[in-house]
Amino acid sequence: MKATDTLAAEEVDSDAGPPSPARMSRRSQSLIEKFRQIRDFSTHLCRNLEPEDCVVQSMPDVSPTKWHLAHTSWFFETFVVKTWMPRYRSEVPQYAYLFNSYYNAAGDMHRRDLRGLISRPTVAETFRYRESIDRFVTELIKEADDGCLAEIEPVLTLGLHHEQQHQELLVTDIKHVFSQNPLYPVFQARALETETNRVAPPHFAEFDEATVLIGHDGNSFSYDNEGPRHRALVPAFSLSNRLITNGEYLAFMEAGGYSRPEFWLSLGWTTANEQRWQAPLYWEQRDGAWWNFTLSGFRRVNESEPVTHVSYFEADAFANWNGARLPTEFEWEHAASAVPVEGNFVDAQRFHPTPASSENNGDELRQMFGDVWEWMRSAYLPYPGYHAGPGALGEYNGKFMCNQMVLRGGSCATSRDHIRPTYRNFFQPEKRWQFTGIRLARDPG
Ligand SMILES: [Fe+2]
Repeated sequence: MKATDTLAAEEVDSDAGPPSPARMSRRSQSLIEKFRQIRDFSTHLCRNLEPEDCVVQSMPDVSPTKWHLAHTSWFFETFVVKTWMPRYRSEVPQYAYLFNSYYNAAGDMHRRDLRGLISRPTVAETFRYRESIDRFVTELIKEADDGCLAEIEPVLTLGLHHEQQHQELLVTDIKHVFSQNPLYPVFQARALETETNRVAPPHFAEFDEATVLIGHDGNSFSYDNEGPRHRALVPAFSLSNRLITNGEYLAFMEAGGYSRPEFWLSLGWTTANEQRWQAPLYWEQRDGAWWNFTLSGFRRVNESEPVTHVSYFEADAFANWNGARLPTEFEWEHAASAVPVEGNFVDAQRFHPTPASSENNGDELRQMFGDVWEWMRSAYLPYPGYHAGPGALGEYNGKFMCNQMVLRGGSCATSRDHIRPTYRNFFQPEKRWQFTGIRLARDPG
């Protein structure tokens, strides 16, 4: 594998005579810089992992770390290198079958729930595959003239946002993998605050009825599901100025939240009983106290931190118990459009949500971005006039617009430059392994 790898790379180097850095355009240089920075962060996230950690698939929703590393490389290989570098030949053509996720137009694919059985390529071979694709992409950008670069850039940028999505999945997936190991491995050693600090009581900021613009304005990168931008009527509502804490969620649990069907959707009640939910995912009761598994180890639940790893069903039941409801994605986007995109993101490498301030911040909305994804009471549906694009990349978002709920705002596993007020994440309502949490809304009166 190594020998072919080197040959292929040499062929690229000697063929077109790539321009020296001095001859490269500023646009090419900044694209290469961005490409390397984001690709390197995936590798950086694996720095404390052993090869044995990287191959485990702890449930069908989870992909092994190795698969994420290979699949993101396959994305660039398939949609960038193969498209614009006609002389490129895959070193191992079978990778296309192993590492295609769900793009039917790109060919057949391996079963998602069997990804943990792919012991080959090894982790080392997977890293070499990554490095090889990185070299080809870099050479392609160096060689491309302005016209070609204008074609490549949108797909390359999509690939980088795709990589950041998989970085988030890599973090949440390894958390699930480690949680299944009775030794509770530590992903990143860090002293998380175990002291429960006082968090200011929630305050509901009021919003008047308004016709607002929803969706991305097209002035920078966005996914197709964020458009078309359109007007929507948002009736008067109020929105909590912070996330729900573990302490508040404990009160719901202690009030019999998990044993009172009156708070639950029918499907939620069935699911909670079938799955025997008594607490958020990763919580465990020991000697009468609640503990939870974090990426920095197993520890006592900190009551001031935002609650996370709850399903839509639990978020909705909590809101009903509280006499409130979850926000719609239109309410959330309207409120978030005036809030700076700041918060606890993966860039801080804390890998865990942080408590809100103890100061009363009145109408100022906190924790809108980062910490935990917020479940919306909106089904994930196309905006008016939405049509998925043609070809394999048209399968990116559109075909999932059924049986999923919208989440907004990003989490402590999301990159700062990946999230925006119009960003629509989506998961099935029973999923709990992402950093998902709760912000409440209310109707007037
Ligand atoms: Fe993907």
